[in-house]
Amino acid sequence: MYILGIETSCDETSAAVVCSGKKVLSNIVSSSLNFHKKYGGVIPEIASRMQLETITAVTDEAIKESGLQLRDLKLISVTSGPGLLGSLLVGVSFAKALSLGLSIPLQGVNHVHSHFYANFLNGERPALPFTALVVSGGHTSLYYVKNFDRIQQLGSTQDDACGESFDKVAKILGLGYPGGPLVERLAEGGDPKKLKFKCCGTKNPLDFSFSGIKTAVLYYVSGKVHKSQGHERCSRADIAASFQETVIEALIQKSFLACDLKNTKRLVIGGGVVANSRLREKFLNAAKDRGINCYFPPRSLCIDNAAMVAGFAYQLFKKGYSSGLDLNATTN
Ligand code: KG4
Ligand code: ZN
Repeated sequence: MYILGIETSCDETSAAVVCSGKKVLSNIVSSSLNFHKKYGGVIPEIASRMQLETITAVTDEAIKESGLQLRDLKLISVTSGPGLLGSLLVGVSFAKALSLGLSIPLQGVNHVHSHFYANFLNGERPALPFTALVVSGGHTSLYYVKNFDRIQQLGSTQDDACGESFDKVAKILGLGYPGGPLVERLAEGGDPKKLKFKCCGTKNPLDFSFSGIKTAVLYYVSGKVHKSQGHERCSRADIAASFQETVIEALIQKSFLACDLKNTKRLVIGGGVVANSRLREKFLNAAKDRGINCYFPPRSLCIDNAAMVAGFAYQLFKKGYSSGLDLNATTN
């Protein structure tokens, strides 16, 4: 069953064709990142205008690359939220028009859920049930997934998202945007044990909080901490490495706690931050020690893309779900 996926939740415009929830025939991603860089973050109005301009060409390209015709498609799927309202509306309106014009069903998909589904495309597929962690620029959530339509949220961030904290720390350290890859690169030359940051303090042990550590880095860099407490000055690489290590350790501690509480032996991770090599290495080591299987998507499917949308939509459609033309975009 061939499904078209459309994803426009943030700064990417993506369209993909996926067969029966697993085989990716095409996955075109166009990003407006370069237009946002000088502002140090995504400007919603720029993102949605670029999406409006590119969505037709991106979809044409995805159909062409799949080797199929529009008439071969059996379902149109689209990210309906959470995300930026203007951006989501571009994708949702486009998908509705296609569904109506081709007389085929429409399926709205939750963006955060689709991130962990990236692990089910083209490779070894984890068995159900599993614990899932999504770490992206906008979300940090833990789930217990009994089935694709039975997803229980166990915890989420109470303030900044994990990727957002990388972006903010990158800004504090004078790096560019997006910050995650730049912090990772800088951290390679630093000592992860040099500074003792903390990343905790939530009522629910499965919730997350990242704004405190960002402020701690800010205070350290601006000299408020090391001067008053007599610390020697550390290099920017040490700060990046210590920050990254603390964040990864918090993610590991909470994710494996969730596995213990739900008695699952599988941990499935998705989202942009999973591109981080240190995170992958540390999660794999921790999983081995605990006898848990840990899954990551290929790096190309960590960032926002429409293949994960089309894949997840198949699972919902198979269970009898579909959306009407009254499908709306939801920001959270
Ligand atoms: O999933 P994604 O593409 O978009 C959202 O749905 O938010 O994630 C983007 C986020 C950004 O915050 C970016 O800094 C972060 O993922 N990121 C990384 C790395 N690559 C991207 N964070 C840490 N290490 C990386 N290598
Ligand atoms: Zn995302």
